[in-house]
Amino acid sequence: MAQASRSTRKPSTKKPTDTKGQVGSFTVPGVPLEDGHKLAGQLQLRLHALNDLQLTLKHAHWNVVGPKFIGVHTMLDPQVDAVRAMVDELAERMATMGVAPIGTPGHLVENRTWDDYSLGLAGASEHLGALDLVYTGVIEGHRDVIEVAGDIDPVTEDMLIGHVAQLELFQWFIRAHLKDDEGVLATDGATTEAEAAQQAMDADKAAD
Ligand SMILES: [Fe+2]
Repeated sequence: MAQASRSTRKPSTKKPTDTKGQVGSFTVPGVPLEDGHKLAGQLQLRLHALNDLQLTLKHAHWNVVGPKFIGVHTMLDPQVDAVRAMVDELAERMATMGVAPIGTPGHLVENRTWDDYSLGLAGASEHLGALDLVYTGVIEGHRDVIEVAGDIDPVTEDMLIGHVAQLELFQWFIRAHLKDDEGVLATDGATTEAEAAQQAMDADKAAD
């Protein structure tokens, strides 16, 4: 089955849910009200992306199998903890800026612009290949909002930059498993998680 990229660049065609009462009469000092609310509104999809990521990482933690199980299983939990901390920080930044964060699963599923994680029980290389693409989507989405934040609010920009620094580090942990001794990444050119998983599994078999 064809799957959409996890990239958050794809514009959503879904209607936003009722936002009555979601936006307050204030934002942070020194930022024009409209600009503060606009930026905080853009953080909503980043909140969904991070919540989706922490759930997806836990799902992979539970569903990785095979001889490389323990390394991947134990690597993922600190990533889950760090992403959960980002979720809380980002949601509270939205509230600080006068826009109520929405953390419900229904709103996440209704408004996200990427497909659900496509792997269930699978080998370590397959999950690692798919997670490489997952991280790329989340990081690209964060970088897009960093550009917006740079013109409006350096405090929010700084928070997002901090998130990306950690997310890119975690992606490198994943990619270090996928790189061969010539520096080629097994997931190069893959546009879906299924493709990335297949390429990573093939590379792993070829290396054995
Ligand atoms: Fe666990």
